[in-house]
Amino acid sequence: MMGFKTRGRSHCFLVAFIVTFSCVGYAKSVRDRTEMEWRSKPQGSCNMYQGTWVLDNAYPLFDSSTCPFIRKEFDCLKYGRPDHLYLKYRWQPINCDLPRFDGEEFLKRSKEKKIMFIGDSMSLNHWQSLICLLHAAVPKSNITSQNNDSVSTVIFQVIRLQFIYLFIFNCNFHGRKYYTSHIECLVLFSIFGSSICKHTLTSYIQDYGVSVMLFHSLFLVDIEEEDIGRVLKLDSLSSGNIWKDMDVLVFNTWLWWYRTGIKQPWDYVEDGNVIHEDMDRMVAFHKGLTTWAKWVNSDVDTTKTRVFFQGISPSHYNGTNWNEPGVTNCSMEVEPIMGSTYPGGLPLAWYVVKDVLSRITKPVHLLDITTLSQLRKDAHPASYNGFKGMDCTHWCIAGLPDTWNELLYVALVN
Ligand SMILES: *[C@@H]1O[C@H](CO)[C@@H](O)[C@H](O)[C@H]1NC(C)=O
Ligand SMILES: *[C@@H]1O[C@H](CO)[C@@H](O)[C@H](O)[C@H]1NC(C)=O
Ligand SMILES: *[C@@H]1O[C@H](CO)[C@@H](O)[C@H](O)[C@H]1NC(C)=O
Ligand SMILES: *[C@@H]1O[C@H](CO)[C@@H](O)[C@H](O)[C@H]1NC(C)=O
Repeated sequence: MMGFKTRGRSHCFLVAFIVTFSCVGYAKSVRDRTEMEWRSKPQGSCNMYQGTWVLDNAYPLFDSSTCPFIRKEFDCLKYGRPDHLYLKYRWQPINCDLPRFDGEEFLKRSKEKKIMFIGDSMSLNHWQSLICLLHAAVPKSNITSQNNDSVSTVIFQVIRLQFIYLFIFNCNFHGRKYYTSHIECLVLFSIFGSSICKHTLTSYIQDYGVSVMLFHSLFLVDIEEEDIGRVLKLDSLSSGNIWKDMDVLVFNTWLWWYRTGIKQPWDYVEDGNVIHEDMDRMVAFHKGLTTWAKWVNSDVDTTKTRVFFQGISPSHYNGTNWNEPGVTNCSMEVEPIMGSTYPGGLPLAWYVVKDVLSRITKPVHLLDITTLSQLRKDAHPASYNGFKGMDCTHWCIAGLPDTWNELLYVALVN
């Protein structure tokens, strides 16, 4: 028994020895790529949400024409947006540098995990950016999508090369398992030679099984059909049992709270046991969000599930807010606002979110994307979308939501 083990080990040493030399270049490039360049400047702590937009030719992070998931609402280049400068900006926090988004690293760390975005079309925007970023990292992986009424799921799965596992099964290299990419690189190298090792290693060997899901919910709290009509129930949240099984939750809601007239998807609003025809929307938002906050406090096991709230995403229809009075949409905007403050200040809803989150006793991370997005009046589709309507609410993909995901990535890995 011992003898067999020893023989197995020395055989592996031999393989490792032969190919280590050839693999040095590969290992180095992997290290360069995955190293977290998370440099906090010496003084003070870093607030990654305070900063400025700077031009960086390494952007965008992916070529939108190669992403098979982009919906027509967000695919600005496909629908003829002529200016491309908006793709070239990187968010630069004042006190630190963000690490580069590393899709492989993201998938490795999220192995077998379920990540769910929950909310309105801003969540759809955010989710689509993430699946494009991950797809760009592992274009050859087996990516499957599933849809049902409320949930869209994209699963990143990579085919295992079974015989490689057979080959290394009996090996015991320094008492470690073989599932690290370095050893797999060595083994692969000995079977295939350099080209496969260099180009397709990670995309074939990793079996991520990562699900990136979208749960459509306009208000987080419920709307129910009753005899009187559609009732928005500020105290009722019935989808929580689906949400709390996830490993990462990214919530968002705001866009629909202020809608009136034909765009208002409810007829009455129920607060406690009282039915109102309408109420102050900021008050309603506060109450609805508080119901969600209570659910997080009572029902979410935050030792298992990471909870994020995607802050208020701004729109750009009122030029007064960026010192261009008279401007009523974003169609002429081709550059961000320079500097780190937005002339129009923060929206009221931002204060509501801050207040409600401050009352949650469990750890919830606010992805505080409001100011950095306010500065990006140039990043909306305007009329370059599949329905030709003027849209200064959502964001082009590739584009600003990629930065939201870079920030999500930092928050997840730290
Ligand atoms: C991709 O994954 C799905 C679901 O696991 C599976 O049914 C399908 O056969 C896989 N496709 C390939 C090419 O491996
Ligand atoms: C939709 O998918 C979710 C998550 O996979 C599941 O919990 C739910 O039951 C499904 N709904 C329907 C109507 O199939
Ligand atoms: C634009 O914003 C300014 C300043 O907040 C406000 O006074 C004005 O009424 C707004 N205009 C429109 C059309 O909403
Ligand atoms: C958008 O703004 C431009 C110029 O400011 C104006 O000519 C155009 O009519 C506006 N379009 C819509 C749909 O508001």
